[in-house]
Order: sequence, then structure tokens, then C-alpha cells
Amino acid sequence: MSKKWIFEKNVIITGASSGIGKELVKTFLTKYNCRVLGVSRDQTKAKAFSEELASDSYSYYCFDVGVEDNWRNFADYLTKIAFFPDLIINNAGVLPKFRSVDNTPIEVFAETMQIDFWSAVYCVKYLDEALSHSKTPSIVNVSSSSALANLVGTAPYTSAKTALRAFTECYATEQKGKKYVAVVCPGFTKTEIFRNQSQRIDSGVIGKVSTPVHKMTRKIVKGIVKRKMRMIFGKDAKIMNLFYKFMPKKSATLFSFVMRKSSLSIFNEIFEIKE
Ligand SMILES: NC(=O)c1ccc[n+]([C@@H]2O[C@H](COP(=O)([O-])OP(=O)(O)OC[C@H]3O[C@@H](n4cnc5c(N)ncnc54)[C@H](OP(=O)(O)O)[C@@H]3O)[C@@H](O)[C@H]2O)c1
Repeated sequence: MSKKWIFEKNVIITGASSGIGKELVKTFLTKYNCRVLGVSRDQTKAKAFSEELASDSYSYYCFDVGVEDNWRNFADYLTKIAFFPDLIINNAGVLPKFRSVDNTPIEVFAETMQIDFWSAVYCVKYLDEALSHSKTPSIVNVSSSSALANLVGTAPYTSAKTALRAFTECYATEQKGKKYVAVVCPGFTKTEIFRNQSQRIDSGVIGKVSTPVHKMTRKIVKGIVKRKMRMIFGKDAKIMNLFYKFMPKKSATLFSFVMRKSSLSIFNEIFEIKE
């Protein structure tokens, strides 16, 4: 298919009010002349972003993507406003505080699974009818490099993102020739997703390997336009993927060693280091 397939399409982007989602919205609006509907939770943030864009081609709808009923209502809303998507990007996600499994409350596992994994299942189930109006029905799910190699202290996030990658790859195979379905596994990216951590990540080892958000978004959009099915972006993500592929047992120990040696206080709770 020609790379022009994306021009002037209807696009839904979740997690549109911040970080990668915000950049995706701007790119699809300005570079590809798309009509974009952004989804996020916080009304105030969503309104402020919409006002900043001041575009007739942008609208937003706020709901918690981790709640099944909200997707049912969203599907009804799309029918009501006759917005039939050609491309849906499930990008909304949360990263809980880095902590050992022993120190992570069970509710954190449940909430992270709802937002980072189940939301994509709800999307596929409830928006299938809306998507069926399109000549180029496409779904892209934003997973993470943590779905490529396990990192200590990130069990809820890694479990949810690994489930999301596996779900997407199963679905992509089933839908071959009918829908374009893809998964993106970005490495560390400079966004606000680290707000729950005890320290900013601009410094130290994570700061060094993190990709600027506009650069990461450019790669994701390029991959979508070329209809790539599995996208791994960022130096750290590529390294993690390679290590885990060739040394599945040793890589987890090695990554854990690097995290411990980094002396970053965000990892203290994982290794139970007292400050
Ligand atoms: N940054 C990284 O290093 C990195 C690396 C790998 C993968 N990723 C993935 O990339 C995606 C985007 O992350 P980001 O770094 O851009 O994060 P971010 O700056 O924290 O933005 C997250 C977005 O998701 C929305 N969101 C969160 N929970 C939601 C919920 N329950 N319902 C609806 N919207 C919700 C937020 O909206 P509200 O503020 O309104 O809640 C916000 O718009 C995530 O899936 C993340 O896991 C990020």
C-alpha cells in the first residue's frame, strides 16, 4: 500500500493529553491532515491541550480506558457524532512506582493491568463496528521495551505490557489481510510518565539512554505509515531485545546489576536500600 494511505484519515489516539500521545496528535493533524479524536482522563488537561491546538480537526473525549463500560459508551458516542475511525492508537498507559513484588499492593497490579492491557482488549471488542466502516482499518498498541526483557521492580507494568504485546501479535496474525494491527515497544522516552517515581529520570543512566519524545514519536509515526507490524525503538529497547533473545537467563541478572549500580534513588525500594 502507498505511504499516502494515512492522509486525511480519522484517527483516535488514547493518552492524547501528554507525552508521546500529545506529539502523535500534533503530527497526524499537521503532517497528514487527519481528523483526530484524543482520549484521556483529566478534563482540565485535555481542554488546555485542545485550546493550544486550536484546530477544527481536533476534538477530545475524556474517560478512564481501564473501565469496560466506558468503552461501550465511547462506541455509542462515536456513532452519535458519526466519527468512524480509520486508525486507533492505544497509547494511554501508567507506570507505577518501581518496587519489589513484595512491596507492591495487589491493587496496583489490578489497576495497571486494566489500563495498560485490558483497555486494548476492550478497544478491539467495542470499537470493531466503528472501525468496520473504514477501507484501511488499523489498530496500533503502544507496549514497551519491558515487554521484550524483564526488569526487576516493574512487575505490574512488565506483566501488563508483555500481555499487551502478546495479545496484539496474536490479533495481528488473525487479522492479516483484513486489518493492519501493530505493536510498538519504545525504550525510555523523556515524558511525564515517571511522575510516580521518587526522582526525575533526566539524570543518571536512564537519562543517558532516554530518547527525546519528538524523536520517539517521529519513529512511531514513520513505522505506522510504513505499516510495520512490530516496532522496537530506542537504543535501550534494541539492546534489551538482543540480550534477552540470546541470554534469557543472564540478561535479567545483568539488568538488575546495572540498576543497582546506577545509584539512582528511584531503584532504592526495589533493592530495599535505606537512604
Ligand atoms: N515514556 C517512556 O519511557 C515509555 C517507554 C515505553 C513505553 N511507554 C508507553 O507509551 C505510552 C505513553 O506514555 P507517555 O510516556 O507519553 O506517558 P505520559 O506522558 O504519562 O502520558 C500518559 C497519557 O495517558 C493518559 N492516561 C493514563 N491513564 C489513563 C486512563 N486510565 N484512561 C485514559 N487515559 C489515561 C494520560 O491522561 P491523563 O493525564 O488525563 O490521565 C496521558 O495523556 C504509555 O502506554 C507508556 O506505557 C512509555
